[in-house]
Amino acid sequence: MSFWQRLAQPAQALVYGATGGLGLAFCEQLLAREDVAQVWACARHADDHAGLERLARQHPGRLQRVAVAGLDEPALAALATRLTASFPRLDLLLCAAGLLQGAQARAEKSLAQVEQAGLQESYLVNAVLPLLLIKHLTPLLKGHHPCQVATLSARVGSIGDNRLGGWYGYRMAKAALNQGLRCASIELARLNPESCVLALHPGTTDTALSRPFQARVPADKLFTPDHAAARLLEVLAARTPADTGSFWDWAGQPVEW
Ligand SMILES: NC(=O)c1ccc[n+]([C@@H]2O[C@H](COP(=O)([O-])OP(=O)(O)OC[C@H]3O[C@@H](n4cnc5c(N)ncnc54)[C@H](OP(=O)(O)O)[C@@H]3O)[C@@H](O)[C@H]2O)c1
Repeated sequence: MSFWQRLAQPAQALVYGATGGLGLAFCEQLLAREDVAQVWACARHADDHAGLERLARQHPGRLQRVAVAGLDEPALAALATRLTASFPRLDLLLCAAGLLQGAQARAEKSLAQVEQAGLQESYLVNAVLPLLLIKHLTPLLKGHHPCQVATLSARVGSIGDNRLGGWYGYRMAKAALNQGLRCASIELARLNPESCVLALHPGTTDTALSRPFQARVPADKLFTPDHAAARLLEVLAARTPADTGSFWDWAGQPVEW
């Protein structure tokens, strides 16, 4: 039975990073489903984003936009309090936040380009943020209801798959994220035996994050955000609590750690 078929009532879903290419596509596709009651679209500037504003107009009352910085713990605690006041459980938590290059973070080609500030920024956004989100929302995840918790990782975070090197900060941060998700899967299994925590790889997708690196990607290997989101929603819906703590790609194939 798929995740959707296991639900006793229409789902409450939360997408963090809803202003990103993939996050917005997830929101749109979740809202298109009749078995999704509400989508909580969260991001730093979720209240001031044209794509989310369009979706809110198309789905009156079903899209809640919440501006919240994912590295601000008091703000995450306030988000959890607000959600708990609205409903007792969260059925789907999707974290689509992440960063390859930022104010400090670089897609380093060599050790000489590795800098402490860049590594720290990448670690905070790619590894710390998703764990803080899960931490603060745990009261809504625990219980005995089907509950998928999926975070976008990246195949380049796989140590076993690393044959090219480079991208030190991003690879290190995604590897750390994967370990954090594995720990969370073990703890959440005790708090909710119906939970399933997953790391997902979307494939190279045409978003702001990948745009500087698309030149050598063949056209048929560059996904639209809609395509990648649709594939990942299929992959996560097919996973059961027995799969918790695992890493999957867009094609439904397991990725080695
Ligand atoms: N695109 C790809 O080819 C690809 C491949 C493999 C994995 N992924 C992963 O997929 C996920 C989504 O990426 P994307 O391609 O959709 O990228 P994107 O369009 O750049 O979106 C990134 C999202 O992360 C949020 N974010 C970045 N820094 C943040 C911070 N400091 N605090 C809070 N939120 C922050 C952004 O929010 P703001 O709007 O507030 O900046 C945005 O919502 C990432 O985890 C990425 O690593 C992507």
